[in-house]
Formats: sequence, C-alpha cells, structure tokens
Amino acid sequence: MTARIIDGAALSEQIRAEVAQRAASLTARGITPGLAVVLVGENAASQVYVRNKVKACEKAGMHSVLEQFPASMTEEELLARVNALNEDPSIHGILVQLPLPAHIDAHRVIETIAPEKDVDGFHISNAGLLMTGQPLFRPCTPYGVMKMLESEQVPLRGAEAVIVGASNIVGKPMAMLLLAAGATVTLCNSKTRDLGAQTRRADVLVVATGKAGIVTGDMVKPGAVVIDVGINRGEDGKLCGDVDFASAKLVAGAITPVPGGVGPMTIAMLLVNTIEAAERALA
Ligand code: GUN
Repeated sequence: MTARIIDGAALSEQIRAEVAQRAASLTARGITPGLAVVLVGENAASQVYVRNKVKACEKAGMHSVLEQFPASMTEEELLARVNALNEDPSIHGILVQLPLPAHIDAHRVIETIAPEKDVDGFHISNAGLLMTGQPLFRPCTPYGVMKMLESEQVPLRGAEAVIVGASNIVGKPMAMLLLAAGATVTLCNSKTRDLGAQTRRADVLVVATGKAGIVTGDMVKPGAVVIDVGINRGEDGKLCGDVDFASAKLVAGAITPVPGGVGPMTIAMLLVNTIEAAERALA
C-alpha cells in the first residue's frame, strides 16, 4: 500500500481564490487589506519566504509592503518601525520574519506588535487566547495543517495526535488546535525518550523539528496521517522534509509532500488572517 498524497499546493490555491474574493469585496467597500512584512538581516531562506508572502498578497489583490533592513539594525529602531506600522491605517497585518539577529530580543518585538494586527498569532495575548479556546488569530502553519486535516476529513475527536517539535511557532499552537478539535495530544520534544514508541501510537502525526529524516517509516503507524512541516535542504541540494518520505509513504494512509505540502498552506493562512484583520477593522 502506498499513502494518499495530500496536495497542499492545490488546497492553498482554493483558499487563495476565496481570499481574493473577500479582498475584492472589502476593496469595493473602500478598504484594501494591507500586510506589512518586516525582514531584518540576510538569512537566505527568510528572504525567499518573505518574497513569497508578499507575492501571494499581491496576487490576491491585497496591499503589501516589504520592509527590509540590514542585520545591523538596532532593537530600538525595529521597535520604532513596528510602532509606526501599528499606527498605519493602511496596514491590517504585521509580520516580523523570524529568526531575528541575536542582538534583537524577538519576544520584545513580538509583544510590540498590536495584537489586532498580529497575523502570525505570536503575541502573548494571542497565544493566551488560543490556549483558552477563544482564538483571535491562529498561527499560520498549524492553522494550515488543520485546514488540510479538515479537507481530508480526518477524524480528530478521540484520535491520538502526536506532535514532534514543541516550538512556539508550530508545535505548541498545533497542540492547542488539535486539543480543541477533541484529539488526545502528545507533544514530543528533543529530549523525548524512545521517540518511535510515541510516534507509532499516532493516528495523526505532525513533525516540525527542522531535522531532516527524523521520522522514518518504521516509526509510523500503518494507515496514519503524516503531516511534515519541515523544510530542509538535503545533501543533494533538493528540498526535503523532517519525514523520510520514501519509507513513510509505504506505511502511512496519507502524507504531505515537501515541497507542495504544508509550505503553501502557511502562506494561504497568512492571507486569511490578514483578510480577517481587515474585516474586523471595518466592522
Ligand atoms: N519563521 C518561520 N516561520 C515563520 C512564521 O510563520 N512567521 C514568522 N514571522 N517567521 C517565521
């Protein structure tokens, strides 16, 4: 048996088309939804990500600005930029690309973003709202994973969901969303003993560690749904995920590819969050 491939590229196109319609109707009412993307430094992967985010915005008929600064920018300068964007009525969403250079306190920057413009959902007040079951913005990557599971009609109520990776960006919010959907959630981290014993229990397995090939086919329960959040550059120069796709697809019931899986969904959900921010501003 070989797994069904979950096509994130196709689903994200569908979501982006819906966003474009909502953007057009907002624009007709006098508000063009606007996203500001802030990038500090020269991280090559981040440059690709932010360019894709800005391009997707424009394609959906939204206004977007990319603010790029050198790695030498000070924390105070960045906080001043964020405060200016907080005050700018043409901007409904603000995203500061992570990671930031080491001399800048990322927590302080994120806490400076107005929570109602925090389309990443990383602000402490948005993290708290998500944790208490009243989300304002769901972080884009876990939100995209939930949309994929929904479109695949994966039953979550009472399901065993195992997440590998406990970051603030993916693992922790993913746990909250799966918990809210009624799954029994296990959140693994880099210290987890016998990782395979955990992953083999999973009906739904989400892997987000940044370590290529950390999950192999022998660690997957037959028929499980495997969601690979990782984006790594393999020794052959090609993109690959955190899951060893070749061995896992022989065991899983459904699996996301890299590229073309979770990546495009993250961008689509960023557009959804920005549209929602703009719609709230109009309400
Ligand atoms: N770096 C990696 N993923 C993300 C994301 O979703 N948002 C931001 N701001 N930075 C990231």
